[in-house]
Amino acid sequence: MSVLDKDRIVKLRDDIHYHNHRYYVLDDPEIPDIEYDRLLRELEALEKKHPELITLDSPTQRVGSEPLSSFSQINHLLPMLSLSNAFEDGEVNDFDRRAREKLGVDKIIYAVEPKLDGLAISLLYENGVLIRGATRGDGVTGEDVTQNVRTIEAIPLRLQGDDYPLKLEVRGEVVMTKSGFDKLNESQRKKGDKVFANPRNAAAGSLRQLDSKITATRPLMFYSYAVGLVEQGSVAHSQSDILLKLKSWGLPISSEVKQVTGVNGCLEYYESIQKKRDALNYDIDGVVYKVDNIEQQKELGFVSRAPRWAIAHKFAAQEEMTTLLGIDVQVGRTGALTPVARLEPVFVGGVTVTNATLHNQDEIDRKDIRVGDTVIVRRAGDVIPEVVSSIKSKRPARTKKYKLPTSCPVCGSEVIRLDDEAIMRCTGGLFCSAQQKEAIKHFISRKAMDVDGLGDKLVEQLVDTNNVKDVSDLYRLDMQTLAGLERMAEKSAQNVINAIEKSKDTTLARFIFALGIRQVGETTAKTLANSFGNLTDLMAANEEKLTAIPDVGPVVADSIAHFFHETHNRTVIDKLIDYGVHWADIKIDEDIHKPLENQTFVVTGTLSDMGRDEAKSALEQLGAKVSGSVSKKTNYVVVGEKPGSKAAKAESLGIEMLDEKAFKIFLQKVQTSR
Ligand code: IVH
Repeated sequence: MSVLDKDRIVKLRDDIHYHNHRYYVLDDPEIPDIEYDRLLRELEALEKKHPELITLDSPTQRVGSEPLSSFSQINHLLPMLSLSNAFEDGEVNDFDRRAREKLGVDKIIYAVEPKLDGLAISLLYENGVLIRGATRGDGVTGEDVTQNVRTIEAIPLRLQGDDYPLKLEVRGEVVMTKSGFDKLNESQRKKGDKVFANPRNAAAGSLRQLDSKITATRPLMFYSYAVGLVEQGSVAHSQSDILLKLKSWGLPISSEVKQVTGVNGCLEYYESIQKKRDALNYDIDGVVYKVDNIEQQKELGFVSRAPRWAIAHKFAAQEEMTTLLGIDVQVGRTGALTPVARLEPVFVGGVTVTNATLHNQDEIDRKDIRVGDTVIVRRAGDVIPEVVSSIKSKRPARTKKYKLPTSCPVCGSEVIRLDDEAIMRCTGGLFCSAQQKEAIKHFISRKAMDVDGLGDKLVEQLVDTNNVKDVSDLYRLDMQTLAGLERMAEKSAQNVINAIEKSKDTTLARFIFALGIRQVGETTAKTLANSFGNLTDLMAANEEKLTAIPDVGPVVADSIAHFFHETHNRTVIDKLIDYGVHWADIKIDEDIHKPLENQTFVVTGTLSDMGRDEAKSALEQLGAKVSGSVSKKTNYVVVGEKPGSKAAKAESLGIEMLDEKAFKIFLQKVQTSR
């Protein structure tokens, strides 16, 4: 027998034991689940090769770890089992084939369910009353968390109906909702308390709280998926019917459970749930297929601690481990410095990731992430990949804390951090070539000047070769310059020239948006164009005039005024106009632009989103009269939350009322009709 295998087995057991303890006992895992699964699988494979080396205390013989001593221990009336995993369709096919062969049938009916990513729990009901709640622990012995379980509103303290068994163990998963998780972390951060890595850790941390008052404040949810001991009564003869029974007794079950036929039905279900995954309000890490018929389940039986009649089909991991090779700093259009992790390529969330965001200096400090670290990278759905944490026990010697540079890595200008911002910014403005490039990319983008065929790479070349410094230089480009650039054929050069020429004929709204004024997005640009009608008036407007425009608050007004105050910006605008950029001014005809003239409005109650003053000024802008009291002459009453007598009066007079949502839609319609 190979000595190497033996050594490896010992090492794997030690490692798994360590990670098990961190995961189950400390609620603070160091490595992603997928890595843990890999270690366990490797150990399983080696033990299969050398069965004589299996020991009683091998992690393969015991799921989970010892419970914390501070909770009392209880014995489950029936052990809590685990599931074997499949990562590929082939493994699901094998599972189905083995089951069919053993049962001697052509097709199996399966109950299919999401695999909830929370924490398994066993609830004991006697005479319909919840008397105990316990964590899984090692599957045989768990922790008594009854006080905490009782705080979870989704878990009934008493069962409904009259046909439940007198003694019943219900098994299911405690999870934290995604929305609840986000809120919890936000408030933890504000209080300076521990931030949880993901909803599962947060659920585990909340349920294994010694103070049940804290648990009570946590957004926990529970879904049942099985029964344990059943005495003095019966449940049902299939998994699907068991779930329906549990539901009828008041126990929540996932809305995604289904019954399907054969392995194809299972695989189709996998696809459909994977598509829905992001939209669900709780995390799942795969789906579970269970032979539906209980008689067939009994016939199939168990291998060690997992049933032969069920399998978990896991999704591609959303978290993976890799090495942080370096940290690059990107400079955005507004000068914001973003630290970006350069990673040893890693397959995560279905794609190969080589870069991930580190957000900002505060996040790097909080997570203590250093170059050379082994880090956990997360990519969920369409979200930008991020570095979640680093594994301190794997840190190489002599690493240094990372600090963002104090001068811009692109132009060398000073980097500043405003008091209330987490973000650091380069002060180089349009002197900084990174900001030049981003400003130009924005200027030519589809919703701005819409210059077709001028790609990012070309913009970068033009700036790097000093042919373009600011956006006005685009309109001075000639064939010779363009065709002289790398990878630029004459035909494409001509296309670019044509596209630039075509973009000269634009609209005021597009032009304002294209300038890239901070805080001025597409919608604000349109509002500004429609309110001022021409650029000269907009450029001359002071903050008072600007804040009178709907949607323009003091911060936006300040940003606009500053932009036009800057000589450099005025010069660029003059040059653009000189080179032939033009648009039709909008005629502001007071009559046409006051569509609510002769209409009287009353605003009452609290408008949570826009505020009462903002609502009034929006109405006045459109020519409406805003009055303080409701009379027969009132045309509309805008009703916020907790309205007083005005709403009641309006109701009695039969005046049309708009709640905040309806009012916003109304405003939008009127504004666009102008
Ligand atoms: S059934 C006999 N159904 O997965 C099978 N488990 O590795 C007992 N889990 O500890 C489990 N969703 O925490 C089952 N729909 C589901 C599940 C599910 C999540 C968890 C559970 C269990 C682990 C098994």
